[in-house]
Amino acid sequence: MRQRKAIDKAIYEEIEQRKAHPDGSRQDILSLLMSATDGAGNYLNVSELRDELITLMLAGHETTATAMSWALYWIHHLPEVKRKLVAELDSLEDSSDYMAIAKLPYLNAVCQETLRIYPVGMLTFTRVVQEATEVLGYEFKPGQIVAGCIYLVHRREDIYPEPKQFKPERFLERQFSPYEFIPFGAGSRRCIGEALAQFELKLAIATIIKNYDLALADHKPEFPQRRGITLAPAKGVKMVLKGVKTVKSPDKAIA
Ligand code: HEM
Repeated sequence: MRQRKAIDKAIYEEIEQRKAHPDGSRQDILSLLMSATDGAGNYLNVSELRDELITLMLAGHETTATAMSWALYWIHHLPEVKRKLVAELDSLEDSSDYMAIAKLPYLNAVCQETLRIYPVGMLTFTRVVQEATEVLGYEFKPGQIVAGCIYLVHRREDIYPEPKQFKPERFLERQFSPYEFIPFGAGSRRCIGEALAQFELKLAIATIIKNYDLALADHKPEFPQRRGITLAPAKGVKMVLKGVKTVKSPDKAIA
């Protein structure tokens, strides 16, 4: 409750500041929310603005942080994965070029495979059937509630051979359709933070791997465990800092 109070205070103060000093050139999410209107021209009120920001922070923080933990686990659990990733990162001319980092193929494949093998959100949010329909022999009636199981889709052997193996190469060898690879859900209610999450995940992993020499605290496998609506590493991926690497031009990404 105390923490909520402190967060609310910070958010409401920020909203008041923005109202007092409007700046039409701002493109951040709070500015966009404050300038948005519904069909009748109504703006969001302050408590609605606060709710939107809290949703973004909570839906966005825990999920992405968990994905980062999983990625660090796989990279350090499988030496070959780490070797290839370090080689790719070392090949970058300018390690502060965020866009170049985001386009690195092996880093991208590692992040995708991380989100495939133990999807942080294992289920989509629920949908309510609007019209009677049939899917693969199953009948759905109006009013029924269904949820997509991301975990089971990602474990299909026909789509992902040896599904229990962490193999980033599968994402280099072929492209998966939005019906096959769905870590962010699907359709018009898919995750709105998808692009931000992937960008953040890649920059954080690249920055950590480039600057720090880490090792897993033990070599026992991590298994997934439900934590609320997320699927998180049961032991929390404990790691040991073995050293700080000397990087010629300090990464701006660290800030
Ligand atoms: C690795 C990180 C993330 C994962 C794995 C993830 C996963 C998901 C999934 C599976 C859904 C349900 C989609 C559906 O029902 O089809 C969802 C919805 C949502 N996510 Fe994310 N998410 C991540 C990061 C973020 C971030 C960074 C934000 C915001 C900044 C965010 C905001 C939301 C919101 C607001 C929804 C509800 C969308 C709606 O109902 O229209 N998520 N996310």
